[in-house]
Amino acid sequence: MDQSVVRNKFKNEFGTEGYLYFSPGRVNLIGEHTDYNGGCVLPGAIDKGMLAEIKPNGKNTVSAYSIDLDDHAEFGLEEADAPTQSWARYIFGVCREMIKRGAKLEGFDTVFSGDVPLGAGLSSSAALESTYAFALNEIFNCGFDKKELVLIGQKTEHNYCGVNCGIMDQFASVFGKEGHLIRLDCSTMDYEYVPFNPQGYKVVLIDSVCKHELVDSPYNKRRQSCENAAAAIAKNHPEVKLLGDANIAMLEEVKDQISEEDYKRATYAIQENERLIATCEALKAGDYETVGKNIYETHKGMSELYEVSTPEIDYLNEVAKECGVTGSRIMGGGFGGCTINLVADDKYDAFIATVVEKYKGKFGLDAKVYPVKISNGSRRLA
Ligand code: GLA
Repeated sequence: MDQSVVRNKFKNEFGTEGYLYFSPGRVNLIGEHTDYNGGCVLPGAIDKGMLAEIKPNGKNTVSAYSIDLDDHAEFGLEEADAPTQSWARYIFGVCREMIKRGAKLEGFDTVFSGDVPLGAGLSSSAALESTYAFALNEIFNCGFDKKELVLIGQKTEHNYCGVNCGIMDQFASVFGKEGHLIRLDCSTMDYEYVPFNPQGYKVVLIDSVCKHELVDSPYNKRRQSCENAAAAIAKNHPEVKLLGDANIAMLEEVKDQISEEDYKRATYAIQENERLIATCEALKAGDYETVGKNIYETHKGMSELYEVSTPEIDYLNEVAKECGVTGSRIMGGGFGGCTINLVADDKYDAFIATVVEKYKGKFGLDAKVYPVKISNGSRRLA
């Protein structure tokens, strides 16, 4: 990403130079909506993200400028100082969560910009949170470890942005490693880097360009459904805290005690966790055809049981199937955004041309194509 835009803007606004930090967005190969259920996920950081220049200003206030939105916000660091602009609440929330954990923050000036498309399901918001959590931790010597920075980002979403998200996005953004996916157990935060170089295949995102907005979306409702089902199961199996601890037989026992909707959601969540474990085995064996089959199964589950897909995304998935793509599914929280596609090299060009053309024909929209490059996590650039 071009640093000069941020550099020049900071110089113009504040007449000086600050530190430059970057955090990426993420993809997730499989394991969707499993994080807040205490299951596993398999994300990786990408080469797109958020870039921020930051410098302490010796005051008690933060002066922030979003280049992409051409908007300025000024706020204090006390709870009562919450800014009205939603983008600024991510920065404010990170500051507050750090202060709550004992950090001694001071005011700073900052300018930021991103090349991770907003609302595409690539976790632009986690990239923003991680950028500031990582940077402020270093600049003000707060001494948080990387897992604490991840939690600071997640709690920002919960407490300041209205999304009851899991831990995956912030974890991938902070811990990302080039050429590796992260197999993360979300109940313990134990993780393992899984080398990911699918010989003979490419991974590509197709953006439906239909905006995905998790705030006020049914995302929180999905989480509630899963918690309802887990609570019903726990009556028979006290060891079950979340659906990641449960199996389908346990769910069947309580089928009549929960709503049909909660039952469907829970079926998906339990199956998806099992699918992830099977997929990790297939990955180890280099069996990408099985990986791909599982990816399609996830799409089916997300569309029919979890009901977080859209007609546009279902269509992108259908076209992928027609083109012989190895695996394709909706990625991220859902309700719009991208599909992630595992495509054999010899089918790649034809797939891209076909999907773009057919999507335009059907919806009149220009799908965007993002080849995936698995990259490093949060870092200081200068
Ligand atoms: C969003 C959330 C994540 C995760 C995914 C679905 O990206 O922020 O925590 O729940 O949706 O897997």
